[in-house]
Amino acid sequence: MSESGTRFWGMYASAYDFIWDSLLTATVGLYVTKLLPSGQTAVDLGCGTGLSSAWLQGVGYQVIGVDASPEMLRRALRAGRVDRAVLSDAVGCGLGLECADVVLAVNLLQVHSRPGEVLDQAQRLLKPGGVLVCVWPSASASISRLFLAEVNLGRPWLSAASAFLARVAIGLIGLPYRARRLSSEAVENVVDHWIASNGMDVIDAGSVMAIEDFRVISRAHPEALTDGKTRQNAPFGAVLARLSVSQSGADRVSSP
Ligand SMILES: C[S@@+](CC[C@H](N)C(=O)[O-])C[C@H]1O[C@@H](n2cnc3c(N)ncnc32)[C@H](O)[C@@H]1O
Repeated sequence: MSESGTRFWGMYASAYDFIWDSLLTATVGLYVTKLLPSGQTAVDLGCGTGLSSAWLQGVGYQVIGVDASPEMLRRALRAGRVDRAVLSDAVGCGLGLECADVVLAVNLLQVHSRPGEVLDQAQRLLKPGGVLVCVWPSASASISRLFLAEVNLGRPWLSAASAFLARVAIGLIGLPYRARRLSSEAVENVVDHWIASNGMDVIDAGSVMAIEDFRVISRAHPEALTDGKTRQNAPFGAVLARLSVSQSGADRVSSP
């Protein structure tokens, strides 16, 4: 990661949990974990402060968090959301071949300069039959819609408004660094194309929830939010794909 990247993510780290440790994030975790098999080891690429890692810890996995920002990792460790932390680019993180039952790339692919190589790396880390989980913000996840969604989910108005302002500020600060490198559509294309050309079996692909559904069902049945199958109007696109059991580490893709 460049020096400007380290500065940007280090600064973002101090506001990250305030902005994202919410029912919105918890609902994405619910969607992911209810589709996962039981397993032992997960690697969370671009783990940040460990919000995504905590989903898997919550269902019994030991989680190795990988992140290129020391500040993000420090917070993940301090919060106890990762069992082990590796300070590294998501590509070439030095973890052993076939060490993981699950690999997460949650809100990483849109900010990484080489998303295809991140997926190649994930594939090398997975045991045969292991599961890759990719989540990214969809085109409809505008800051104003996220604000409305959070208010509808029950976040106090003042807190949601402060998170809204913090998202605006982070977006502006990240502009010169080009923190967000790929559009939602571009990430979706990379993921879909990569999965199709690497023989992964898709367990589920779609959206995590439709924003319009928040008001109606969130409080009574939060689990129902995860049943939407269309990516339209949903804040997060997601794919869970299983590595074929017959694919050995030696056969796996290697990026140029
Ligand atoms: C949007 S945050 C996502 C954090 C977490 N996965 C979540 O969903 O809460 C993106 C994370 O990716 C990390 N990151 C950005 N570029 C990276 C790279 N090249 N290698 C590893 N981590 C990177 C950032 O430091 C940041 O913690």
